[in-house]
Amino acid sequence: MEYSTIIVQREGRIGIITLNRPEALNALNSQMVKELISALDSLNQDESVRCVIVTGSERAFSAGADIKEMVNMNSVQMAMTEHFFPLWDKVGRYPKPIVAAVSGFVLGGGLELAMSCDIIVASETAVFGQPEIDIGVMPGGGGTQRLTRAIGKYKAMEMILTGKRINAEEAYKFGLVNAVVPKELFIEEAKKIATKIAEKSPVAVKLAKAAVNKALEVGLTQGLDFERELFYLLFSSEDKQEGMKAFIEKRKPDFRGR
Ligand code: HXC
Repeated sequence: MEYSTIIVQREGRIGIITLNRPEALNALNSQMVKELISALDSLNQDESVRCVIVTGSERAFSAGADIKEMVNMNSVQMAMTEHFFPLWDKVGRYPKPIVAAVSGFVLGGGLELAMSCDIIVASETAVFGQPEIDIGVMPGGGGTQRLTRAIGKYKAMEMILTGKRINAEEAYKFGLVNAVVPKELFIEEAKKIATKIAEKSPVAVKLAKAAVNKALEVGLTQGLDFERELFYLLFSSEDKQEGMKAFIEKRKPDFRGR
């Protein structure tokens, strides 16, 4: 697929998707959603890619869903086109880890996209918000659920009901982002984390990600049962043999994803 709203690159074992609608502060429109889904599919199918980074520009990760595209849509059109939902499903259930590298505006659907990823690295200039209330709607891409799980009811409620934005330092303090770095370094920092993940066993990474996500869905006993099954399963992988042998032989493991 030819991309007009995103740029897709591969650097070693990392796939990098850059949102690229600078004229609209990377507002997410239907075309971008289609392209993101296609890019994520192709990076998932590419066995050489072990971790994905989703990023934007220094000025804006994304200012949210494209308001100009939505202004004349009614609820039936929203429902029938499932405006954006295939994207949230795709990112939320993506088998490989995704690191969001964000800077500048991270608003509305942009914040929802970042929160659907697994790790969030922020530049010191990042501002986070769910401003949908200011345009007469509410978050619809998981914001009420994911933000509340990430920072708790009261802070989420204030952000969602008043449209209040928080800066990177506050986001870090609230547990919304993994790291805050100078603006020149946010992509580099994301690459460092992605590279570390990409060196691990892809099988173990995939199952560990699934297990952590399960913790947000089920009770403790069910979650522990799920973890145990996946843990047993990993003992059938070649990567487990390789990892344990490499430790004993005092060498670096060469994980193949088998
Ligand atoms: C369409 C947008 C946009 C958006 C910015 N632009 N955000 N276009 N949809 N969400 C466009 C502007 O219209 C403008 O284009 C250009 O980008 C630059 O924006 P400015 O407003 O001139 O920049 P600035 O003054 O720096 O203000 C930046 C901003 C502001 C604070 C981010 O643009 C803003 O408030 N944007 C809307 C944020 C928002 O409400 N997001 C939530 C959307 S709803 P022109 O052509 O005019 O120069 C949502 C729901 C998701 O995300 C639900 C999913 C199912």
